[in-house]
Amino acid sequence: MSTPSLLILPGDGIGPEVMAEVVKIIDWYGDKRGLNFDVSMDLVGGAAYDKHGVPLADETMAKAHEVDAVLLGAVGGPKYDVLDFSVKPERGLLRLRKELDLFANLRPAQCFDALADFSSLKKDIVAGLDIMIVRELTSGIYFGEPRGIITEGNERVGINTQRYTESEIRRVAIAAFELAMKRSKKLCSMEKANVMESGILWREVVEEVAKDYPEVAVSHMYADNGAMQLVRAPKQFDVIVTDNLFGDILSDCAAMLTGSLGMLPSASLGAPMANGRPRAMYEPVHGSAPDIAGQGKANPIACILSFAMALRYSFDEGAEATRLETAIEKVLADGVRTADLLGEEGATPVTTSEMGDKIIEALNASL
Ligand code: IPM
Ligand code: MG
Repeated sequence: MSTPSLLILPGDGIGPEVMAEVVKIIDWYGDKRGLNFDVSMDLVGGAAYDKHGVPLADETMAKAHEVDAVLLGAVGGPKYDVLDFSVKPERGLLRLRKELDLFANLRPAQCFDALADFSSLKKDIVAGLDIMIVRELTSGIYFGEPRGIITEGNERVGINTQRYTESEIRRVAIAAFELAMKRSKKLCSMEKANVMESGILWREVVEEVAKDYPEVAVSHMYADNGAMQLVRAPKQFDVIVTDNLFGDILSDCAAMLTGSLGMLPSASLGAPMANGRPRAMYEPVHGSAPDIAGQGKANPIACILSFAMALRYSFDEGAEATRLETAIEKVLADGVRTADLLGEEGATPVTTSEMGDKIIEALNASL
């Protein structure tokens, strides 16, 4: 196969800083493991707006269609709050997800041993936690029509529509069942079938798909109860499948169980391309954190772990993904911490780029 191609879109805020560390890791794989990537860089979000007047240029969208995987940093910032909704930085990200049809968003929440004390929950509740949230990413209330702000009589009305077709539910359910088969064969589906018709359909379709996976133990939970259970006893879960909006909220909640939003990667996967690889975009779950941007304070681990997911899901390099994850585990076990991972009276944190260097050192030691 030809050299795999990557499109890197660092974006806004801390995006460029954390992505710079990923680039170091990519270079390391080229130098030390003979794993070369054909890398191109482009703009997304506010950075793209500043140059092109839109949060994602058509040429960038076209490039995203051509590459084997997209790596995205983060989008958004207060500077862009005043922009019209249609050109806000987030629209760039949503366009990528929608046009690449990346319907299955994998958000693993794993608690590293070295950080178990750092969670806002008690250590025994989170130690060893390893769950995978599969969030539907291209439909639901994020994209449903009708939408907008209209005037009715003498007042304005804000409208969004939760809409799911059977096939949209089925394909993300299949992705979740396939993952469950590779993990501990346990799947919990979350919706609000008690108040939403789309939730009733969601539950029915998940049950239909379940018939093809008799080995998987399936359960259903109302999403509000799911939020409560995630903080009460998160280890009861393995794979969770849910819709776009519930998945957005539940994954932030799950992320925080692990100690810091700065640790959580994600993979957004679509249908296979002609070369057999899935359409894919990888991004940290955290946002652009404008309050700390440009200060070297950001934690690059979520973004680096997102590249590890790319190695595993796009490039069939599971062993190299594990090598990278193990290097990160080692660095954390050695007590290396960025500012987000320090307690109140913690020691001196390392900078974003020092964290990247430490991870490279651990990678070198792994050879
Ligand atoms: C996420 C983010 C995005 C979302 C925003 C930035 C549009 O919160 O990826 O979770 O709501 O999906
Ligand atoms: Mg979110």
